[in-house]
Order: sequence, then structure tokens, then C-alpha cells
Amino acid sequence: MTSNPNSILLTGGAGYIGSHTYVALVEAGYNPVILDDFSNSHPAVLARLERITGRPVVCERRDVADTAFVQAMLQRHAVAAVVHFAGFKSVGESVAQPLKYYRNNVGGMVSLLQAMDAANCRTLVFSSSATVYGDPASVPITEDFPTSHTNPYGHTKLVCEDMLAALRTANPAWQVGVLRYFNPVGAHPSGLIGEDPSGIPNNLMPYVAQVAVGRRPCLNVYGNDYATPDGTGVRDYIHVQDLAQGHVAASQALLDDGEGGDSFTVNLGTGKGHSVLDVVRAFEQASGRPVPYQIMPRRQGDVAQCYADPALAQRLLGWRATHSLADMCADAWRWQSQNPEGYE
Ligand code: UFG
Repeated sequence: MTSNPNSILLTGGAGYIGSHTYVALVEAGYNPVILDDFSNSHPAVLARLERITGRPVVCERRDVADTAFVQAMLQRHAVAAVVHFAGFKSVGESVAQPLKYYRNNVGGMVSLLQAMDAANCRTLVFSSSATVYGDPASVPITEDFPTSHTNPYGHTKLVCEDMLAALRTANPAWQVGVLRYFNPVGAHPSGLIGEDPSGIPNNLMPYVAQVAVGRRPCLNVYGNDYATPDGTGVRDYIHVQDLAQGHVAASQALLDDGEGGDSFTVNLGTGKGHSVLDVVRAFEQASGRPVPYQIMPRRQGDVAQCYADPALAQRLLGWRATHSLADMCADAWRWQSQNPEGYE
């Protein structure tokens, strides 16, 4: 069966980055279909996607590790490429429950790749992370920096990257785009979809947003004695809308290339570093609300600075981030203030 070049499967397509990418792919003329087990996403997102795009969403509720189901789904929709978002992403949880992470992130990907192989669909965009750089020796980080891991979550991302490299060696028909995300934040400008972490947010921006909206009293700033301009940690925050466009560019590059075309591994970041206090100030500005904070000891495993050199993505994919920190905060605030309890 020949595939439909517009048909793209999004595993984890109901999640934070998956849902924004869904919208961007529809706007670029693709027909994305979603596979999600809703283990870390909310079914209410589907109606929001329909409101934004004005068309029905095709979504199957199933674990990505159900090989036979995924193979049948790939064939049923004549899928040309898969964007694989379905993975767990909490560093702390991965330390406490490593097997949950190896099973879903590594086992899930083995199953997905087997299903793709059986369905003759060998084009994949993979959600990796700047976590594969461990504690970088310097910044900005280019893709040829040495990789390492400091927790099971990071290890699963590295194992998946290695698995994809091995697969390409075994069969050059595989075309793989590995996207190493820096710190995705913000929300769709409609305020209809956004990040909805369950429980207490681990990440900075959703925590700041929940303080601003009054759900939490105060932000804990983990360390102000780093070797950075104001002593707090510096990260490369990237608007989820820019990240979504990065997936469109990556899918296009692989699909336009034909079988056996060039694979790539690229950073998706802005190239700019912002400190924790920069984010607090920008969020106060965007929301008009105070964000009280207290300085706490460093969080274990954190690095002082982490930001991308995004030049390779621009060169290979013609992609670059265009949104500022002010845009990220304004859109995160619109989502948070319109949906104070998330999708509930
Ligand atoms: N921070 C706080 N208070 C908080 C949360 C975070 O001060 O409540 C600080 C952190 O110490 C760090 C910065 O805000 O300096 C960003 O922290 P995040 O948790 O938002 O993001 P990280 O850079 O630690 O983690 C992200 C991803 C991980 C990934 C890691 C490395 O969430 O999945 O980048 O790439 F592993």
C-alpha cells in the first residue's frame, strides 16, 4: 500500500507539545492523526483542537506499546511519517520509578519502531532533549558536544537516540529527525491549549504561572549562587509555538527527501539564556500580578547554564525561533488565567 504524504501519526499527540504540533501541522496542510493513552494528558484537549482547527480530530486511545494495534493504525491511515512524543518526562519521577521510564520511553519506542517497520513506514521525528548533554562544559551547546546522562529519564533519551542510529545502520531506508528540545514554555495564542502538569509542577514556567494566578503562594528559586549574572540558573526557554514549527520543518525535510534521504539531529532552542529571575520579572510584566519568591538551596542535578546554538536547525531546516520571553509569558498567562485549573 502506498502511503499518503500528508498523513502523519502523532504518538502522544494530546500532550503539551503534541497538541501544539497537531495545530501547526494542520495549518501546514497535513492530516495528523493522534495516538494517545491519556496517561499524562487530558481528553478535553481534543475538543479544544477541534475549536482551533475547525475540523474533527482523529484520535485512538491506546498504549504506543501495542505493536499490532499501532501497525494496523499506520496502515489504516496510510501514514507517511510518525512524530513520536509519547514519553514520560519528569526527572524526579524517573529517579524514583526507573522501570516505568525504561518501559514506556525505551520499550514503547522499540514497539513503535517494530510496528513502523512492519507497516513499511520508516520516517520518524523523535522528541529528544537537551538533557542528553548532561552538564555541558560550555555554552552555547552545539550538536557535536559529548552526550551523557545523570538520571534514568536522560538515559532513556540517549538509549533511544542510539537505537535510531543503529537502525539506520542496519537499514538506510530509515529517515530519522532527532529534535533536542531545550525548555519548552508558553501556549497557543488562543489560550485554548497549554501545559497542564498534574500535581505540583516540576518546571519553572508552570509553577510561576500558578503562583501568579493564586494557586500557589510563592515560588522556590533553587539556588542564587551559580556562576551566572544574577546567580540563578540560566536556561534556553523556547515558545511551544516555535517548537511546533520545528516539527513541521523536520517532517517536511524528511518527507520531501524521499526514501533514504538525510537524517539529522538538531537542537531546538533560541540561542538565548534567561535566568530564573528574568523569567519571574517577565511574567510579572506580562500578567500584571506579583510573583513572590524565596531563595532555596540548589536542586540536586541542576546545572548552572544550558542554552543552544541553534544554527544547525536553521541551516538544515530553515527553522529558527521567533518568539521572545515576553511572548512566552504573555501566552502562558493567557492559558493559565483562562484555565486556572487546567483542562479540569
Ligand atoms: N527552578 C526553580 N524553581 C522551580 C522550578 C525550577 O528555581 O520551582 C529553576 C531550576 O533550578 C532551573 C530553571 O528553573 O534553574 C529551569 O528549571 P526547569 O525544571 O523548568 O527545567 P530544567 O532545565 O531543569 O529541565 C528541563 C526539562 C527536563 C530536561 C532538562 C535538561 O524539564 O526534561 O531541561 O534538558 F531533562
